[in-house]
Parts: sequence; structure tokens; C-alpha cells
Amino acid sequence: MLGISLPYLLKHPVAAVTDVASDPLEIWIKLEEKYVGWREGPPPVCQHVSNQNWESLLHERVGAGWPCQATPEFWDLWREVIRELENQGIRPGPASFRAWNDGDAGFTRAIWCLVRHLKPARVIETGVAHGVTSRIVLDALEKNGQGHLWSIDLPPLERDWQKQVGLAVGGRHQARWTYIKGSSRRRLPGLLSQLGQIDLFIHDSLHSTRNVVFEMERAWSALRPGGALVVDDVDVNGGFEAFSRAFSPSQSLICDAEPICPDLRRFNNKGLFGIMVKD
Ligand SMILES: C[S@@+](CC[C@H](N)C(=O)[O-])C[C@H]1O[C@@H](n2cnc3c(N)ncnc32)[C@H](O)[C@@H]1O
Repeated sequence: MLGISLPYLLKHPVAAVTDVASDPLEIWIKLEEKYVGWREGPPPVCQHVSNQNWESLLHERVGAGWPCQATPEFWDLWREVIRELENQGIRPGPASFRAWNDGDAGFTRAIWCLVRHLKPARVIETGVAHGVTSRIVLDALEKNGQGHLWSIDLPPLERDWQKQVGLAVGGRHQARWTYIKGSSRRRLPGLLSQLGQIDLFIHDSLHSTRNVVFEMERAWSALRPGGALVVDDVDVNGGFEAFSRAFSPSQSLICDAEPICPDLRRFNNKGLFGIMVKD
């Protein structure tokens, strides 16, 4: 309830009540999301069939060569990110940040390639947690020598979890990164009006149909032609399917999630992510 667990509430009642009382608007938004999620009911049976050759199709769509020269760079970075998290006592994978998953190797590789090929000036993501996707975007922007990432994130109320937010980034890339605390419902519209046009948008926050459609609609209208939306966990709600059907299904790719680390055989529960490139 409210992103705070009962054991934490019982152990730290003063801190918990202070934190809840410090931002009543976010609490209201969370309650509303919970109510709408309850009304949405269980996710619809997933109709998506994944594109087995999504990687070559994606490169074709953004006008980049295949096989991709940027992919080996990704794997070097990926191993480094996993190793660094493990050295900090984190076991990257499913439910490693409270109930949330870290970005998987397929999702983050798509993001790496999009950043390296589109050379975006403005990237927005929602949902930071350990900051795996944030780190991948920021290292790719750094390699490009240009671009900025804005990350909107509503962290859990428990302070122990808050200490882990953005660990994969650490102190890196401070000039390229703006962390915005709050829900995407509250923060995204204002950020988009401030930025005007964006080049890349990544959804990895609250995976309800309502929230995914809310984020996609707003991001799509600010996205430049040739820019892309990347949406995680499209199989757990009807948001990506509804949005891509309305805005031309031929523009969308459905992709299989991958092991966090193939050598370790540690798998995300089989999942899907989606990509839309704007004409
Ligand atoms: C799946 S995790 C993000 C994983 C991250 N992209 C990574 O690869 O490490 C989702 C995160 O979104 C946050 N979140 C939940 N609801 C949110 C909302 N409405 N707006 C923004 N962030 C939200 C959660 O607290 C959590 O930290």
C-alpha cells in the first residue's frame, strides 16, 4: 500500500509517517493509480507475437548498418555494469529493486543502439530504480559527445530502497543527467513543455495500461520524426498494444526480453518490450 511495506512501517513508524505526510499530492496520485489499477483488473491476454529479427529491423528503421558496430561496445559495458552492481551486493535481475526488475540485456541493448545511432540531444526516461537503463543511456551519450538525459522517478517510500536509486550510475555524468523525483503523471507534462521536442523516450515506470498510454501519448506528440519510444514489459498491460494499434502497428516492433547475463543463466521472467519509431 502506498509503496511502503508493513514491516517497514512497524519498524520505522515516525520516518514512514513523516515521509508519507511530506508529499500528499504524490500519495493522492498513488492512491488514484491503485484504484484505477484495481478497476483495470488483470492484464488482457497478451496478443503480441515477438519479432525474432527485431534487431536488424530496428537498425533498418533508423537507417543504421547491420551487423551493428555499436553492439560489441554494449556487451563490454553490460558486463561492467553487472559486475559493479554485484560488487555492491546487488544481484541484478527480476525483483532486485523491491518488486521491480532491472533493465534486461535486450531492452538495454536496443536503447544503447538507438542512442548511438540517433545521436539524440534530449532523452527522457521514466523509472530509475538501480539506474541500469540510465547508465546505459548516459554512457552512450558520453560516447556520442552530446546529449542529456532527464529521468522521472517515483522511488519507494522506504529509505533503505531510496539509498539504492541510481547505484549503477554512481557519481558519473552529472552534467548530462537530471533526476526528477515524482510520478510521471505529475512530472512528464511539465518537462515536455520545457523541452519542446525530444529524440528518444523510454518507459520503465508504472506498467499499468492507463500510465503507459498516458506517457506514450504525451511523449509521441513531442517526439521528432525519426525519434523512438521504447517501452518495457508490454506483455503485462494493454497500453502499448492500444497505442501502437491507433498509431500504425507497422511502426512498432515487439521484442523478447533476455537474460540479465547470459553467462550466469539468470533470466528475467520471460517478458516483452516494444519499440516505435516515428515516421
Ligand atoms: C522497473 S523499475 C526501473 C528499472 C530501471 N529502468 C533499470 O533498468 O534499472 C521501475 C521504477 O519506477 C518507479 N516508479 C513507480 N511508479 C512510478 C511512477 N508513477 N512514475 C515514475 N516512476 C515510478 C519505481 O519506484 C521503480 O524505481
